[in-house]
Amino acid sequence: MEWVGTAHQNGEMTASTLPLIAIDGPSGVGKSTTARRVAARLGWQYLDTGAMYRAAALAIRRAGITLEDRPALERLLSTLDLAQKDGRMFLAGEDISEAIRSQEVTRQVTPVSADARVREVLVDRQRRIGASGRWVVDGRDIGTVVFTQACCKTFLTASPEARARRRFLELMTMGQSPVFEDVLADLQRRDEADSTRAVAPLRPAKDAVTLDSSDMSLDQVVDGIVARHQAHS
Ligand code: DC
Repeated sequence: MEWVGTAHQNGEMTASTLPLIAIDGPSGVGKSTTARRVAARLGWQYLDTGAMYRAAALAIRRAGITLEDRPALERLLSTLDLAQKDGRMFLAGEDISEAIRSQEVTRQVTPVSADARVREVLVDRQRRIGASGRWVVDGRDIGTVVFTQACCKTFLTASPEARARRRFLELMTMGQSPVFEDVLADLQRRDEADSTRAVAPLRPAKDAVTLDSSDMSLDQVVDGIVARHQAHS
């Protein structure tokens, strides 16, 4: 793996910081909107790692295999053709941006993202993409596993109720008729699964700043992350 600028201090090899902003946090906290806006402000690129896990879940479903079918899973992972461009996700050249947001994929991605082999393959790809820096990357384990040397780590959080309210309004805007209690229960289910899984559970990195956005506007969150980055550089 290539890290930018490895430094020697007191005769010891210490990794210097990578110019990369890691934004981790639970479902529905607004990480991707925030990350996209931060990237636009800095002129950096944005990587949505959740979309990569969703794409893997979709590919596994389409191939008709299960996580238990190890040889088939290995084959699928080794040839998985993923790309992100202009905020869209592509699988073998097909734009799957809408397909990966379906209820089905949202359900299936939880076990897929808890699978150690899937994580190994996707984390390796994420590291290659971000290695040169100037990326804003969002996910669950970016600051703790994928880019531990990221210069600026934010753990973005908000109460389950605040997140469910936002998601509820978003679904209403999309013309759906959500039930608030169902939206809240789904978020809590995903929180529980993401934080208790054995591999790369959701938790803040030791050097992350936790930002509770329950009572903050999107602009305030983006300003806070950009200001923290500028204070670093
Ligand atoms: O952020 P999202 O809802 O699009 O993420 C989809 C799933 O992938 C969700 O179950 C959490 C998981 N995920 C993960 O385990 N690690 C990441 N770096 C990003 C997402």
